[in-house]
Amino acid sequence: MGPQIIVVDLGGQYTRLIARKIRELGVRSVVLSAEAAGEALASCKPKGIILSGGWASVRDTDDAPDVPEAILTAGIPVLGVCLGMQWLAKKLGGVVESWASQREYGVYDFKCMVASDPLFQGVPEKSLVRLSHGDSVTVLPVGAYRSGMTKDCGIASFTIPDKQIFAVQFHPECTETDHGSQMLKNFLEICGAVPDWNPECLVAQIRSEVLAAVPKGAKLIHLFSGGVDSTVIAKLLEPVFQDRLVCAFIDTGSLREGEFMEVRRNAVAAGCSLHYFEAKREFVAVMSGLIDGEARRIAFQEMYRNKMEEFKDIFKTQYATQGTLATDLIESGQEGGAALIKTHHNAGVDSINPLRSLFKDEVRDVARFLGLPDFVSERMPFPGPGLFVRIVGIPATEETLNIVRSADACSRGIIRAAGIEHEISQLVVALVGVPTTGVKGDARSVGYAIVVRAVRSVDFMTARGYELPSGVRRSLITALTRDPQIVRVWFDEGDKPCATIELM
Ligand code: XMP
Repeated sequence: MGPQIIVVDLGGQYTRLIARKIRELGVRSVVLSAEAAGEALASCKPKGIILSGGWASVRDTDDAPDVPEAILTAGIPVLGVCLGMQWLAKKLGGVVESWASQREYGVYDFKCMVASDPLFQGVPEKSLVRLSHGDSVTVLPVGAYRSGMTKDCGIASFTIPDKQIFAVQFHPECTETDHGSQMLKNFLEICGAVPDWNPECLVAQIRSEVLAAVPKGAKLIHLFSGGVDSTVIAKLLEPVFQDRLVCAFIDTGSLREGEFMEVRRNAVAAGCSLHYFEAKREFVAVMSGLIDGEARRIAFQEMYRNKMEEFKDIFKTQYATQGTLATDLIESGQEGGAALIKTHHNAGVDSINPLRSLFKDEVRDVARFLGLPDFVSERMPFPGPGLFVRIVGIPATEETLNIVRSADACSRGIIRAAGIEHEISQLVVALVGVPTTGVKGDARSVGYAIVVRAVRSVDFMTARGYELPSGVRRSLITALTRDPQIVRVWFDEGDKPCATIELM
């Protein structure tokens, strides 16, 4: 049986999250471009179609998504999300406009107005939803009724019952939408989809995919960072590749305090032996000449790519794997028509990426399924370019790396001692190189700021800023300003969107 649900990618940041949520509900889905979706209708015989969100506007004649109309005449249920809703509205006789007062970027109260709507069964009248839109539907399409609203958005959802068309302006796939999973479950029921997806089949699929890609007898280099993603791949592939698997770790000089000990411990947990490659001076020399975040990311990626090619020469093989996730590819603008947010180091590198369609929480599930210990499955993410992307506005030199490294270690220690580590999905401690004035020991002191940003997130595509308790804030301010170069500590509690998790 082919995929039951086709998710049509209209260029949204969350398109893969829709597919991931459908998987979580036990149903196989496939993400296809608008053009490919039109062609796949006949061959796949899907039971339903979901039109994703996207950055374009249906009001713009050049950028408006070109979705094949066959989707509307296939006789199967359609769910339009965000831009998908706007496309449906415009196509079917409604009006889409851009009113500043209706723009919403964040989490808002949603009121379900038609309790009998099949999409909202089991959903209370009032709940929270994640929205991120500049355009809004202002006039309903023909045959539609309004099924929900927010304070600022008069038509936050609509349904065309005769055509089995459902549309929501918000993102049911985002964890911050309280009853999003229930709405998607309802949609699967409307489509008549049946369960056909589980973690065992995922593990078997990854093993056979990598085995098929690497010829018998050839070595496979695995870029091991010690994070949950690369550790899961090592654990998964070690039994099938055994001594053909070479786990390589690059020390780029941007690690946190004690990081390599954790990396070694995680390699042991995965049952693989580790090859350590020292490249600190090389990386710091290049990174110290760059200020702009994206320039640093691109330079880092280039050096990382060169290292991978070097390893291929050293171990006489052309094959490499990495723990690249859907998040990395989407934000790097390498998934469908998604916009570039920032270049992730591992996207666009010549390698096999067995986790490319998964999100962090799914990888954590696989880690648990494989029996990896909690210190692996629950590990906080740390980006490949490490502390290089946590020094803002000034060069990333040995000196500034040491400042942010100590601040990070000190902050993690305080948070651990306060017993709130488990409440935080990721802690970002960054050095902001804007000189501001302070007074220390009765004298003028000009120095930098440390930004402390804690977030809660499941899939890291969206996140909620976490408010640290006031006692913890006071301890952080006292401890971090002991560094002679630091005069103040800023707490960043913004959600993603609109702030990303890392500062650059
Ligand atoms: P942002 O900052 O875009 O990050 O909200 C989302 C998640 O991705 C991590 N991140 C990276 N991970 N290589 C990685 O392996 C990278 O270049 C990279 N950049 C960001 C980030 O820490 C967060 O968990």
